[in-house]
Amino acid sequence: MAKEMNSIAGKLPEMDIYAQRLAVSNPLIEPIVRSAIQALQLPLGSRGLDAGCGIGLQALLLAEAVGPTGHVTGLDLSPQLLAYAREIAEKAGLSERISFQQGDVNRLPFDADTFDWVWSSNCAGYHPAEPLPMLRELTRVVKPGGSVAILAWSSQQLLPGYPLLEARLNATTAGIAPFVKGKRPELHFLRALGWFREMGLEEPTAQTFAGDVRAPLSDDMRSALVALLEMRWPGVQSEVTPEDWAEFQRLCQPESPDFILDLPDYYAFFTYSMFRGKVAK
Ligand SMILES: C[S@@+](CC[C@H](N)C(=O)[O-])C[C@H]1O[C@@H](n2cnc3c(N)ncnc32)[C@H](O)[C@@H]1O
Repeated sequence: MAKEMNSIAGKLPEMDIYAQRLAVSNPLIEPIVRSAIQALQLPLGSRGLDAGCGIGLQALLLAEAVGPTGHVTGLDLSPQLLAYAREIAEKAGLSERISFQQGDVNRLPFDADTFDWVWSSNCAGYHPAEPLPMLRELTRVVKPGGSVAILAWSSQQLLPGYPLLEARLNATTAGIAPFVKGKRPELHFLRALGWFREMGLEEPTAQTFAGDVRAPLSDDMRSALVALLEMRWPGVQSEVTPEDWAEFQRLCQPESPDFILDLPDYYAFFTYSMFRGKVAK
C-alpha cells in the first residue's frame, strides 16, 4: 500500500500540498493505523464511519478490515480532500465498499444509530473545535453496543542526538498542537478517557501504538520522513532562539549537508494513542 500511495501522490501533480503530505507520509503511519484497526476487531460485514477522513487512506484500511460485505463511509469538511479520496479508493479497487460524503463532524448528516462503529483519526481535539460536541455526534450515530474510536499522534523522537532542541521545538505552538496554550487541560487529547466517561461510553480503553524507523531509509520512507519533518514544526521561527532556528535548519532541511536523515545510523520513533468506548445498549 505504501508504494501505491506514493505513486498516487506522484500521479496527482495538482494535489495540494496538504493532501500530498498526507499521502507521502502514509508509509510511516500506515503500520500503526493497521495495528490500531486490528486492535478494534471490527466485525466482518460491519458498517462504519471514518469521521474527518482526509484523503481517505484510513478508510481503505477500515474497508479491508470489514471485508467485502462491509462498508465504510468517509466524511470530511473539505470537498477537495474528498475528491482525492474518491480517486484513491477507485485506484485501490475499493470504491464499491467505501462512499464519501461532505459534512461537519459536529453536525453529522446521519440518523441516530446508523453505524456499527465510528473511527476518527487526528480530528477530535483539534483546534478550534471542542471535542465533546464532536464526540456526542459520533456517539449519536453509532448503534447501541457499537464502538467509538478516536486516534491521534501523541509523541515522537525524530531528532536523535538533539533532545534539547527537539524539546524546545515541542514547546512551541506547533509543537503542542492540536492542543493550544491556555486551553483547559481536560481538553488535551490524552484526557480523552474523561470525554468518553462524560459521553456515557462504556468500557473505555486507551492504547498507544509505536512506530519506528531506522537507516538505511528506502526512498519512500525518506520522502515520508521529509514530509513529517515539514509538518511537525511549522512556523516555529518566531518562537525559538535564532541559534535553535539555525540548528533546526541545519538538521531538518533536505538540502543541508548535515540533514539528519542522512545519518548512517538514523533512528526515530513516534506514537499514536487510541481511545475507544462502547455505546450503551
Ligand atoms: C489532520 S487531518 C486527518 C485526516 C485523516 N483522518 C488522517 O488521520 O490522516 C484532519 C481532517 O479533518 C477534517 N476536518 C476538520 N474539521 C472537520 C469538521 N468539522 N468536520 C469534518 N471534517 C473536518 C479536515 O478537513 C482534515 O481532512
